[in-house]
Amino acid sequence: MQSTKISVPELQRLKASGQKITALTAYDYPFARILDECGIDFLLVGDSLGTTVQGADTTLPVTMDDMVYHLRLVGRARPRALIVGDMPFLSYQAGICDAIANAGRLLKEGGAEAVKLEGGVNIARVIKAIVNVDIPVMGHIGLTPQSVHRMGGYKVQGKKSGRQPGARERLIEDAEAVTNAGAFAVVLEGVPMDLAAEITDMLPIPTIGIGAGPHCDGQILVMHDLLGMSGDFTPKFVKRYANLERVVADAVSAYISEVREHAFPQDEHSFH
Ligand code: KIV
Repeated sequence: MQSTKISVPELQRLKASGQKITALTAYDYPFARILDECGIDFLLVGDSLGTTVQGADTTLPVTMDDMVYHLRLVGRARPRALIVGDMPFLSYQAGICDAIANAGRLLKEGGAEAVKLEGGVNIARVIKAIVNVDIPVMGHIGLTPQSVHRMGGYKVQGKKSGRQPGARERLIEDAEAVTNAGAFAVVLEGVPMDLAAEITDMLPIPTIGIGAGPHCDGQILVMHDLLGMSGDFTPKFVKRYANLERVVADAVSAYISEVREHAFPQDEHSFH
């Protein structure tokens, strides 16, 4: 496997070369190490940790301290992959100074190499301010989970047949605004595939899709969804590559039975 550290310009070179960018979320040391050894291009310490790791219903309760903590755990894997830290709800929406200070914390205290934040036209001036202090920013438009209450649930955005006229045009404006503000890449979440293809063709920066079809420059999934660790519900855009819940449950059940049946530990597991 290639060992050169992945940088922001390297992700941009991947778009230019036509090689798909691969990304997954990671929240701790052991998984960051495994994912990195597989050759993933970037690891997102996502605020999805609120639902996947903390058991919350939404990402809204996640704090800056939570993000710094999980970034540190991921950073200890010293991954070749670029580490992107998500900016949690209200860490960047309330004012430019706050946003710069919080983005800076993710780098200084958490070891992130770039930050990601949600929003398009509405948040472009914040992106610009963070980029101006040399912190690379990844945008995130379309279905933005921090806006769950405004959207009335986790719904595909920019549908032709949607109830909101002009939704497709607005999404294109968001993509342009984020790019013009200096973002180095943009996540397209929950976007019809033809619209994601149009945005991908139009933008000079890489698009990273999640529920946005095959034409984006790269793909990201929540690691727990890919590995089958997020319960019974599988959203349409997720492909489960494993059923780790089953693997873990089988292993733990076997352990419980063997201890109860005096089959573990045996001589080979004991000291003399
Ligand atoms: O928090 C997260 O995991 C994300 C991805 C779904 C893109 O934002």
